[in-house]
Amino acid sequence: MSILGIEKIIYGVSNVDECARYLTDWGFHYIDSHDPQCKIFATEEKTQIVLRHSNDKTLPALHHKSPFFSGSCGREVIWGLDSVQSFEKIKNNLQQDREVHVDSDGVLHSTDISNNAIGFAVTQRAPVIQAPLQFNLVGSPVRINQIAEGSHKKITTHPLRINHVVYLSPSPEAAQQASDFYIQRMGFKLSDNVGNKGFFMRASASHDHHNLLFECHGPDYFGLQHSAYEYRDMDHIMHCGRYLETQGWKSHNGPGRHTVGSNLTWYFWSPLGGLMELISDMDYITDEWQPRFIDPLKEGPPISWSARPNGPDFKFGFPIT
Ligand SMILES: [Fe+2]
Repeated sequence: MSILGIEKIIYGVSNVDECARYLTDWGFHYIDSHDPQCKIFATEEKTQIVLRHSNDKTLPALHHKSPFFSGSCGREVIWGLDSVQSFEKIKNNLQQDREVHVDSDGVLHSTDISNNAIGFAVTQRAPVIQAPLQFNLVGSPVRINQIAEGSHKKITTHPLRINHVVYLSPSPEAAQQASDFYIQRMGFKLSDNVGNKGFFMRASASHDHHNLLFECHGPDYFGLQHSAYEYRDMDHIMHCGRYLETQGWKSHNGPGRHTVGSNLTWYFWSPLGGLMELISDMDYITDEWQPRFIDPLKEGPPISWSARPNGPDFKFGFPIT
């Protein structure tokens, strides 16, 4: 079975119109769903965020705990498959020990071992292929007699694709168990293990360092914590992030660069629930990659630099007081 990556994330939110404005400010494309109960927003490659009101009975049950956000939350992550054959393999695998149903659109719905709602569908994505960046380096100029696109004061930025989701687990053992489920049952690959309590994984047919992370922040947290969207480059992250701030949306952490996965990052608090992350330039890895064990006690916070370093009380995912 080949899982390409995230196809769709379905959110149940308390204020659909506010969330629609937020996603529009991120540069998502609005798609008319022809359903008044549902608003759909798409990336450039046509992977989607679906908004429904949190009271919508068609949503999977809320499975989330955090002192810092409630009500609005991601309810289901749909993974995109390469073929009908992969769809049938996943269905046969999951229905051995859990409830599975296929809806009228051909989407398979079930739950993972942590009781997060998950789904699978043959992908509808239209992969984006970008030309190499014209980036002048000392001794290797490539953009000659041409100004940089990012130097324009106003450029339009759009998320290219959904890159990853992060779930919290209430114990390191639960995070390990979730990782085992996705690796052994769904063919995911371990990319890195952070302290035996953070498991970075990529989908079976993906070269992204991670499309999925389960990590433990303590017993009071479980469920979907953030989702991440890939932009072209640092210029696009900065243009989009600055625009979001001018529209009143609150930055959480960033801009900066991660150590694990190496991606550029900027997190914003999201009215959809939790955080949303702008990312770019993640490590592209193959089966030659050897998963690392990273000791957070030795390595410290997983950020190599931050343009707005926070104080000693900073803790990822927690509001700054
Ligand atoms: Fe992330």
